[in-house]
Amino acid sequence: MARTIDITADRQAALEAASAALADGFAIAIPTETVYGLAADATNPLAIARIYETKGRPRFNPLICHMADLSMAEEHAEFDPVSRALAAAFWPGPLTLVLPLKRESPIHSLATAGLDSVGIRVPKGFAGALIGAFGRPLAAPSANTSGGISATSAAHVEADLGAKIPMILDAGPSAVGVESTIVKAEGGQLRLLRPGGLAAREIERVAGQPLLRAKTASATIEAPGMLASHYAPGASVRLNATAVEPGEALIAFGSAVVSGADSAKIVLDLSPRGDLAEAAANLFDYMKRADASGAQSIAFSPIPEDGLGEAINDRLQRAAAPRD
Ligand code: TXA
Ligand code: MG
Repeated sequence: MARTIDITADRQAALEAASAALADGFAIAIPTETVYGLAADATNPLAIARIYETKGRPRFNPLICHMADLSMAEEHAEFDPVSRALAAAFWPGPLTLVLPLKRESPIHSLATAGLDSVGIRVPKGFAGALIGAFGRPLAAPSANTSGGISATSAAHVEADLGAKIPMILDAGPSAVGVESTIVKAEGGQLRLLRPGGLAAREIERVAGQPLLRAKTASATIEAPGMLASHYAPGASVRLNATAVEPGEALIAFGSAVVSGADSAKIVLDLSPRGDLAEAAANLFDYMKRADASGAQSIAFSPIPEDGLGEAINDRLQRAAAPRD
């Protein structure tokens, strides 16, 4: 059973308890600015195995390794000039860089799924401080059962994984609400492997070049594990709805007018004022609430594709994809 520790009550005690659990080889839930992560020592194969086992995650799907800062990251990966500029501009923050793994890095091959590259990011706040205190990188996927909706609160983690993990560090709701943006530099070009909590245009501005888009919602996508059906609630998902059908829940955006809304099981608006950052922060919690309403289907209003809308629409397309 998980012990939940409020990090605001005694931050130092929380850091010490979390470091001790990590040193003992446990996988524990930690807050990051994007979503809650299920974290373990990236150099300890038994600890990493606990992550895969707890999530029911396929082992061919590599984990992001979280670092305290750029200098720690440089101990483990080779930085090209563009990646270094992006790290300097956006770390700590919701950006993951896929980089060549250094031969001398003690990161275990179970974390990288045997690839010669590694996905690295430096998270903000408590997670960054924890890695600094612990002294080693933390492998951490989102703290949810594989294929389900990511957790953006300690309560989400408790409901999904509470019976399987020893500790949940609670820092309140995640500020960003969608996972990090993943970018890989290749032959002087930058590829967007996953849209996320840092808008693509921000990256393009610093890099001075456009991001090449991978095809979304495809099982053969570059980032292994970017499977088409993902982020799936129990209910089916219907996108770009302008009318609610009987038995549906409605998740709207920007105070959109949707006919039949009064008969919906529940009506939620991701951001009545049409703010995409607010919508991203509410997305996964509202999906869980709509799911809990007992609706068979969740209808979503159209969401603009600019800024964080790209990441929101990516997650919704995966949630709506055919399931196997
Ligand atoms: O915001 C986030 O990124 C959260 C928080 C906890 O940091 N983490 C997260 O991790 O979303 P996860 O494991 O759910 O997503 C990791 C993604 C996967 O799609 C994986 O395929 C990709 O990163 N990835 C990791 N290492 C990679 C590599 N070497 N090459 C290509 N893709 C990689
Ligand atoms: Mg995930």
